[in-house]
Amino acid sequence: MRIDIITVLPELLKSPFEASILKRSIEKGLVEVHFHNLRDYTDKSYNQIDDYQFGGGAGMVMMIEPIDKCISKLKAERAYDDVIYMTPDGSTLNQKMANTLSLSKNIIILCGHYKGVDQRVRDTLITKEISIGDYVLSGGELGAAVLCDTIIRLIPGVLNNETSALTDTFQDNLLAPPVYTRPAEYKGLKVPEILLNGNFPKIEKWREDQAYERTKQLRPDLLDND
Ligand code: ADE
Repeated sequence: MRIDIITVLPELLKSPFEASILKRSIEKGLVEVHFHNLRDYTDKSYNQIDDYQFGGGAGMVMMIEPIDKCISKLKAERAYDDVIYMTPDGSTLNQKMANTLSLSKNIIILCGHYKGVDQRVRDTLITKEISIGDYVLSGGELGAAVLCDTIIRLIPGVLNNETSALTDTFQDNLLAPPVYTRPAEYKGLKVPEILLNGNFPKIEKWREDQAYERTKQLRPDLLDND
């Protein structure tokens, strides 16, 4: 998979890809991540990429020209499954969307800033608009990092034990069951007996029941989803 990220702040975005699972997935060649500084695509003085909004009002708007130039250059090099715009008014990211996006071959992610991008970008260049939650970030970069993390860990071969992504919380609309490790007893706090007796079918059933009970208690809304 190849991910191209268009941003005015590439330095803000780089560190999540330089550690742990994301770093290893890049080193293993399972994913390529490329950063494109939008300021390299403007002819204006001071590398200007934004301007005042027509009709007046506070806040700058990112101009269509540099965004179009950057996206057109990338599209001339390869076909893209999606051009995603990170914005608080997009569809809220969930596991189902991450599963679908992890099957893509090439995607572009555009990070918004200021008051956002000229509407004509959204109307003509963007195929998906994604928010990471109902709150406003200073820009789309942190959202893009979250989106990339959740997609990349689903690519086969990225996690050591491939099945572990399948048992994640939110797969099958269920929260994950509780987990324990050594010691079996700590200051009188005991690990449930069933996990210690080696009866794996029973353990599996216990985990399923726990996942369901936890979801019913903490996130009943997930059980209503298809
Ligand atoms: N940019 C600003 N806020 C955002 C959010 N909540 N999700 C994605 N991109 C954003």
